[in-house]
Amino acid sequence: PETGCLSIIVLGASGDLAKKKTFPALFNLYRQGFLNPDEVHIFGYARTKISDEELRDRIRGYLVDEKNAEQAEALSKFLQLIKYVSGPYDSEEGFQRLDNAISEHEISKNSTEGSSRRLFYLALPPSVYPSVCKMIKTCCMNKSDLGGWTRIVVEKPFGKDLESAEQLSSQIGELFDESQIYRIDHYLGKELVQNMLVLRFANRFFLPLWNRDNIENVQIVFREDFGTEGRGGYFDEYGIIRDIIQNHLLQVLCLVAMEKPISLKPEHIRDEKVKVLQSVVPISDDEVVLGQYEGYRDDSTVPNDSNTPTFATTILRIHNERWEGVPFILKAGKALNSRKAEIRIQFKDVPGDIFKCQKQGRNEFVIRLQPSEAMYMKLTVKQPGLEMNTVQSELDLSYGQRYQGVAIPEAYERLILDTIKGDQQHFVRRDELKVAWEIFTPLLHRIDKGEVKSIPYKPGSRGPKEADQLLEKAGYLQTHGYIWIPPTL
Ligand code: BG6
Repeated sequence: PETGCLSIIVLGASGDLAKKKTFPALFNLYRQGFLNPDEVHIFGYARTKISDEELRDRIRGYLVDEKNAEQAEALSKFLQLIKYVSGPYDSEEGFQRLDNAISEHEISKNSTEGSSRRLFYLALPPSVYPSVCKMIKTCCMNKSDLGGWTRIVVEKPFGKDLESAEQLSSQIGELFDESQIYRIDHYLGKELVQNMLVLRFANRFFLPLWNRDNIENVQIVFREDFGTEGRGGYFDEYGIIRDIIQNHLLQVLCLVAMEKPISLKPEHIRDEKVKVLQSVVPISDDEVVLGQYEGYRDDSTVPNDSNTPTFATTILRIHNERWEGVPFILKAGKALNSRKAEIRIQFKDVPGDIFKCQKQGRNEFVIRLQPSEAMYMKLTVKQPGLEMNTVQSELDLSYGQRYQGVAIPEAYERLILDTIKGDQQHFVRRDELKVAWEIFTPLLHRIDKGEVKSIPYKPGSRGPKEADQLLEKAGYLQTHGYIWIPPTL
């Protein structure tokens, strides 16, 4: 591994994302020994004029439960690594001061030898990305005589549609090479999402089954049991398709549907993701159901006539040899009756089935991304007992039970570690982002113009009933009288 000075600069240090995700992830990496205190320094940068100590106070509460004595000690050491610089996002003067602070630290740590590694984490709204990138490029690049690198980590939303996203990409692309840009989609950092590649390509079981001959439909589902509390203003500009489906769920779709990459090299994997996205055909209006939960517009930051969807089911169709005719149902919603994310692969009926009349349901392979990470295969077995009856059961690999005592890392922890290592496998490449926007932009424009309407649904429900009807029309068969219950330890 590389050694030498590592500066992690969190821009937008006093914002929500930094407090809730970035700093806690850095702290967890530190606690686990991935950030060497002899090499690392962390800088917060934002407009608010506060002292180092005030920034530390603001983030402290998000990092640990302070009653945990063991962590409390690590916490105070970690906080000492953090310095704060305040300044605007578009002034050379501010970024010059930031550069001075970083350089000072590099000189003190590199008194003998070492490199200058600078990681800029933009926990900021994308509207300031271009100016911030320009400032970094002008004032804050790594000192090349020391070796090392400068990398930029950016967060969605990367634009609002194809055109704005491409514009943003080219503005940033003029300043930095693709190899320096890390576009985070935190779903790619989730344990079971990362497992997809292994599951699909390291197991003989799945190879012959993973295609249109055997699979009836695929669902990728995201549900939350709370609304847009506190971020209605942001959300109303974007809606559930831009917030969840175009990025998180589409990334998962890539891993479910792509062909086997030539190797595990990041570029080989990303090439395959782009290819499968390019095979997606335009979404047809009658394969979309939008919803908006009742009460969403009560938020004072949301306009009274908003048509922004807080729920959407869309069916994607992949025009290639493997998937022709198989609907990929992407579904996401806020303020529903449960919180979970999963991939659900439903297999076709058994041909010439002699048990057909007594069967409860089809074979399904479910990958539960969260909570209660698990994979389970729903299958029909003989009901234990004297009679010859069948029942739906499952082969269950529940992580909590199978990997007791193993802490599953937070997505952000893993992804930040990747940016330090320089591994871009789990980040979205520019061409991937472009195709993702190509798929959804026509639909998004129709929604924005009010041509596709959001149907009201009750908070705490399953969403609009039209969505279930669409699923049925697409060939999804619900199993009645069976639910999977995560094992309790
Ligand atoms: C974010 C969305 O990207 O993902 C949020 O902006 C959403 O609206 C969140 O709540 C969900 O992330 P997770 O990891 O809790 O599933």
